[in-house]
Amino acid sequence: MNILALETSCDETAAAVVADGVRVISSVISSQADLHGPFGGVVPELASRHHLENIIPVLQAALDRAGLSLDRVDALAVTRGPGLVGALLVGLSLAKALSLALDKPLVAVDHLKAHVAAAFLEPLRPRIPAVALIVSGGHTSLYRLVGWPDGFIQLGQTLDDAAGEAFDKVGKLLGLAYPAGPRIERLAVQGRSGLGFPRPLLDGSLNFSFSGLKTAVLTYTKSHQVQAPDRAPAPGQTPLADVCASFQEAVVDVLTAKTLAAAAREKTDQVLLVGGVAANGRLRNRLREELAAAGVELLVPAPEMCTDNAAMVAAAGFHELAAGRLAGWETDAVSRLNCAAGN
Ligand code: KG4
Ligand code: ZN
Repeated sequence: MNILALETSCDETAAAVVADGVRVISSVISSQADLHGPFGGVVPELASRHHLENIIPVLQAALDRAGLSLDRVDALAVTRGPGLVGALLVGLSLAKALSLALDKPLVAVDHLKAHVAAAFLEPLRPRIPAVALIVSGGHTSLYRLVGWPDGFIQLGQTLDDAAGEAFDKVGKLLGLAYPAGPRIERLAVQGRSGLGFPRPLLDGSLNFSFSGLKTAVLTYTKSHQVQAPDRAPAPGQTPLADVCASFQEAVVDVLTAKTLAAAAREKTDQVLLVGGVAANGRLRNRLREELAAAGVELLVPAPEMCTDNAAMVAAAGFHELAAGRLAGWETDAVSRLNCAAGN
């Protein structure tokens, strides 16, 4: 069963072909990061326009790499939301048009579910129940997964900024281009993490808060001279790498501590780590080591399957299709993950 999926929720135009919900046959991602970089964040209208320009070439490239023609596709999947509405409509409209023209079933997938579905792609094989940490630019939440593709029970969520949003906002105030997450990670490798930024909400709850940490970095930059990006540090300046390492370590400490607490509370032996921030090597390593010490296995997709892509949409779409949830012509770009509160 070959599913062709489209993803246009934010600033990545992506298409993929996935077999049987688990085997990635092709995955093409065209990032608009360079376009939005100078604005310090994604400009919604620019994003929509570029999806419109790129979506057909990206779709064609995914089919070519898979060696498939459109008529060999069995079903279509597309991101329904949450995301930028104008951007979502580009993918959704094309997916409906393809479904109509090819007379193939269409499923519209929740973006968060798609991130979790990345952990179901080969070679990973999650066992349910499990605990899932979703860390992206828009979300930071812990779930108990008692069923798949349904059965999300929320254990905690961010009360303000998402972790990726914190990376991007801190990057912006340090003069780094959007998206700052990967840039901060690269700089942090050469830095020392001793600047003592706060570890918010380490109070036993499974909720997160990152806006105070962002303010702490801002306060630091106002009271200290910090090296500018792409310049050698002047005498008396704090190396930029040290600020990045100290900030990243604070985020990783909080995400690790809360995920360990959730795994212990839920008595699970598997944790899934997904979403754009799950591409962060320091987070992957720390969480893997600390969970292993507690006898818990970490399942984390390859970094390129953590940030937005269409393979994860196809993977989620496969299970939605199996559950018989087809999209109709009236399907809109509104999606809210159906989950129970568990905290
Ligand atoms: O899942 P994603 O691609 O889009 C959303 O659904 O939000 O996540 C994007 C977020 C951005 O905030 C980006 O800075 C962050 O993930 N990110 C990272 C890394 N790669 C992407 N944050 C930290 N370290 C990384 N290596
Ligand atoms: Zn995402």
